[in-house]
Amino acid sequence: MTIKIAILTGGGDCPGLNGAIKWVTKTALDPLLVKKRSVKFEVIGVMEGWKGLVDINPDDPKSRAHYLKHLDEEVVRAWDRSGGTNLGTSRTNPFNPKNDRSKKLLKNIEKLGIDVIVAIGGEDTLGVAYNLYKQGIKTIGIPKTIDNDLVGTDYSIGFDSAVNVIMEEIDRLRTTAGSHNRIFVVETMGRHAGWLALHGGECSGAYIILIPEHPFDIDRVCELLRERKGREIQYSIIVVSEGAKPKGMQEVYKDDKIDDFGHRSLGGIANYVADEIAKRTGFETRYVILSHLQRGGVPSARDRLMARWFGISAVDMILNEDFGRVVSLSHGKITSIPLKEIIDKLKLIDVDKYYDTERYNGKRTIL
Ligand code: F6P
Repeated sequence: MTIKIAILTGGGDCPGLNGAIKWVTKTALDPLLVKKRSVKFEVIGVMEGWKGLVDINPDDPKSRAHYLKHLDEEVVRAWDRSGGTNLGTSRTNPFNPKNDRSKKLLKNIEKLGIDVIVAIGGEDTLGVAYNLYKQGIKTIGIPKTIDNDLVGTDYSIGFDSAVNVIMEEIDRLRTTAGSHNRIFVVETMGRHAGWLALHGGECSGAYIILIPEHPFDIDRVCELLRERKGREIQYSIIVVSEGAKPKGMQEVYKDDKIDDFGHRSLGGIANYVADEIAKRTGFETRYVILSHLQRGGVPSARDRLMARWFGISAVDMILNEDFGRVVSLSHGKITSIPLKEIIDKLKLIDVDKYYDTERYNGKRTIL
């Protein structure tokens, strides 16, 4: 019996996706393992996430060539070293009630003879995988989001690489901030959850960290900066998550556009914070929005490992017929949980446990 696996990546790209694709493919097609199994696998990559599976015309060879990529050990050999996704991605929601394309999607899956779909993505992409599972399609998820806000898993691919970018950029900013005695406000991604800002800020020794889970008081931010200047420290780094907001105000959006999953693009809170600090304190202040730099570059060691382990586990799950589930890391062990349990929820920072609401920084008690 041959099982046809289709792999796709959805949502924002990040380093580690190519590694996960490689390890699903290598594990499924590994000649040594093939000998021990009663089933054989064929692996195809679907280009551009769910968009590819919706837009493909299975009867048209040109369309098939455009949206499908044959994957084997030779094709994916060096993929784990590169960032982005070689399968492309999209933010297409085939179940969008305003433009429901799920019937076409189901038909295409059947026509293409796909037995199992491995979807690598965050809450939106995995939400589609769950909807398909409910319609009888065998789906398996691999968690990916630099925001690290998926519930049920302690880790999602891409987070560590992004934290490393934040740390490296802040290290760079420190020298110029120091030379000019300036305040630098650095904006990270993190739509609803402040993990990137908190971990990025903590590992770079930022003076102030502002997260979505705790609306901040701009007067308190200025007070903390004044206190610090009084201690002869002439420059400061403030890390602010794109989803952070001042008390009584809403988040700062880039524009009015709404994507297929109902999200608006955040961005610009660093500008607001820098302006208010300059106005209220007179301190020379600059801001930097790290934006998509955080999703660029090669995967960190941790992301290469997690991509490998998650990819291998996805094939184990197919063999065990654990469909409708997503691979997860729980207390240091790889396991899996039902997709149902991660839908419409977010893993936010427990402010009482991890955030110092007086200092606006990571807590200084851990145990
Ligand atoms: O995937 C999550 C994320 O990284 C968010 O932190 C951010 O708001 C969003 O992607 C931006 O995505 P894009 O601009 O690529 O649509």
